[in-house]
Amino acid sequence: VDPLTTPLCRLLGIRVPVVQGALGGPWGSSVELAAAVARAGGLGTIATALQPAERVRRDIAAVRERTEGPFAANHTMRPFEADVFDVLLAERVPVITFALGLDPELIRRSHDVGARFVQQIHTVEQAEDAAEAGADVIVAQGDEAGGFGGGSGLVVLLPQVVDAVAPLPVVAAGGIVDGRGLAAALAFGAAGIQMGTRFLASDESEIDLAYRQAVLDASSERTVRASFVNRLVPPPAPGAFDVAPRVARNEFVETWLGRDEALAADLERVRAQVRDAIAAGRAHEFLPVMGASAGLIHDVVAAGAIVERVVAEARSVLASLAST
Ligand SMILES: Cc1cc2nc3c(=O)[nH]c(=O)nc-3n(C[C@H](O)[C@H](O)[C@H](O)COP(=O)(O)O)c2cc1C
Repeated sequence: VDPLTTPLCRLLGIRVPVVQGALGGPWGSSVELAAAVARAGGLGTIATALQPAERVRRDIAAVRERTEGPFAANHTMRPFEADVFDVLLAERVPVITFALGLDPELIRRSHDVGARFVQQIHTVEQAEDAAEAGADVIVAQGDEAGGFGGGSGLVVLLPQVVDAVAPLPVVAAGGIVDGRGLAAALAFGAAGIQMGTRFLASDESEIDLAYRQAVLDASSERTVRASFVNRLVPPPAPGAFDVAPRVARNEFVETWLGRDEALAADLERVRAQVRDAIAAGRAHEFLPVMGASAGLIHDVVAAGAIVERVVAEARSVLASLAST
């Protein structure tokens, strides 16, 4: 039996248990990234955050032109856009990944059109609720992760979630960049891994070179959860989780970190500043979203090569453990 052909592979029809997590909106999503991961046998994901429905429809068609393999499209509760979610259903996306909140109705509607539903969570309680609501796969995301999150580190979260939702397949996310991480996740009982920050530093991520360089340069300790950002974005929808984004410290982050009250007094100006930056494609200059795993990332390579390298390393780690 191949230890890397896990229940996740069988359920989703992928060859290797590696998921490219969504890199939302202006933070690195690309059709080429999702397609390259799919061609390497993993699960590539189209992000939809802050994208109009028409763009999402085009992206889905473009991924289908580039690969025959299964792929995922992501949506979140921060914000939730009903017309975008409807596109995922209408286009019969094979896998829908959902994050930052839970709505059992969305799971039912996804199943009605034959999609697999992958729910990302940050706590054991959220995992139990997602399993009860009918999710097919649970992504247990530790506090190390880039993007919105929080809660415990992956080493304590993952085994608890595996126990809580068995026999559902659990995907480990947060802080993983290599085959050691994949092997460790399998040892904890996970059926696969999801990486985000690692794929930011790939040839196919559509990010500014300065942002990529910031990922290469950042130490794990330079990344922080920035709750002040929650004041700059629309209020969470009902069912949304209590989360904040992990970003690398820069001048903007240093200015507002831990100063939520001061920010409240200057809110309109700072909101406009961030909104203009997003519109100009310079969101990373204010909020360089990345995980603590940035400290482990030292090169920019093709996304397919990342998948192959992680799988080959995991095989060799597992073999060396078995032979000692
Ligand atoms: C720049 C960036 C943007 C992200 N955007 C999204 C998103 O739109 N939707 C989502 O579900 N997760 C998003 N995430 C989370 C990732 O999909 C993934 O779960 C996470 O990055 C895993 O942790 P890691 O960064 O340690 O690999 C994002 C992560 C990063 C780094």
